[in-house]
Amino acid sequence: MDLVINPRETGFVLLDLPQLFGNRNPVIVEIGSGKGRFLIASAMEKPDQNFIGIEKSLHYHRVIRERVAKRGLRNVRLINHDVFPVLQKMFADASVAEVHMYFPDPWPRRREQKRRIIRPEVLSEIRRVLADSGSGIYVTDHREYFDASAPLIAQFFRSENRIPGPEDPPRTNYEVKYRAEGREIYEIRFWKA
Ligand SMILES: C[S@@+](CC[C@H](N)C(=O)[O-])C[C@H]1O[C@@H](n2cnc3c(N)ncnc32)[C@H](O)[C@@H]1O
Repeated sequence: MDLVINPRETGFVLLDLPQLFGNRNPVIVEIGSGKGRFLIASAMEKPDQNFIGIEKSLHYHRVIRERVAKRGLRNVRLINHDVFPVLQKMFADASVAEVHMYFPDPWPRRREQKRRIIRPEVLSEIRRVLADSGSGIYVTDHREYFDASAPLIAQFFRSENRIPGPEDPPRTNYEVKYRAEGREIYEIRFWKA
């Protein structure tokens, strides 16, 4: 079993997810998985679901790869690449059950905003790859990014904004850090149908 899918070696081939995991369990994709706290905790808690982490940074990719390998998690695969071509070329229509995005870089400067994950071309791909019953979640501490993202997400999905409270356990390293600092956290849940 190969933990890592490397499009630089294989090319951007369309993934056969049931073949990749050896089962037809639902596939959860995390974009920008960082050091992997959410992905690893979820994969351990839900062995009947499959998880794919797409992470651009080689440093973070190496950290998460080591952590996943150490735990012998068979329901995780990792891709170290920018998310857009990966979604566009490697995922079939309606092949994914959930997409999670925690604290994507806000790129606050106007000329850098084209790099944001929450932009129409990426949202369009997320919509395409999600199953009809599929859903997603986007979480940020950045008010301006949230304000810009909410109407965009609403163009592609049925969506609901919420603010996580003390009863919601933090899911990622950034969430732990930002909540300890007392920062406001904004969340959008969205559904294809
Ligand atoms: C602020 S960190 C948050 C990490 C983690 N989700 C958390 O909440 O702890 C943003 C992460 O997204 C990754 N990232 C940014 N742009 C990306 C892209 N276009 N494709 C894949 N990953 C990306 C970064 O490398 C970084 O690991």
